[in-house]
Amino acid sequence: MLEEIVKRRSIRKFTDQEVEEAKIEDLLRAAMSAPTARNTQSWRFLVVKNREALNSMVELQPYTGMMKTASCAIIVMGDREASQPDEYLYVDAAAAIENMLLEAVHLNLGTCWCAIGPRAERIKNFRDYYAIDERYIPIAAVAVGYPDEVKESQDRYDPKKVTWYR
Ligand SMILES: Cc1cc2nc3c(=O)[nH]c(=O)nc-3n(C[C@H](O)[C@H](O)[C@H](O)COP(=O)(O)O)c2cc1C
Repeated sequence: MLEEIVKRRSIRKFTDQEVEEAKIEDLLRAAMSAPTARNTQSWRFLVVKNREALNSMVELQPYTGMMKTASCAIIVMGDREASQPDEYLYVDAAAAIENMLLEAVHLNLGTCWCAIGPRAERIKNFRDYYAIDERYIPIAAVAVGYPDEVKESQDRYDPKKVTWYR
């Protein structure tokens, strides 16, 4: 497992090979297997395959240039009504996203996590473009595709960042 975890890197260049929908479903299955506070399963997912929408995502969030070559984007949202109070929406989403990124490594796919919330202007841009109801907070867009760049595994283990209380 650790071998696959350290293999995960952000991929920002993808081939034009389309990602099979069965693989996208595996990513979503991995996401929905993540833990959530009080088991609220507060996430919702919008799978964007539309080329024009992918090409213009950079207008909604400036650091999503890689979407131009991605096969799809999975927009992860928090459902404010699933969780009251909704203080854990971002944490729930983050756990689901990381599960997706790791399953993608296993499927030889590349991914890049791009933040939307909590930046208000980005949330508004995505709400307006995709007609997302106020009930849902767009939290991140994950670019998915077959990698067209090679990035080395990085073991960032740093004992200086750890305190043991024995
Ligand atoms: C909350 C969050 C937001 C991020 N937003 C972006 C983004 O908008 N655009 C981007 O290209 N990468 C984004 N990244 C990816 C980081 O830049 C990347 O994970 C970091 O540089 C470490 O590199 P690695 O993923 O290859 O290990 C984001 C990552 C996280 C966790």
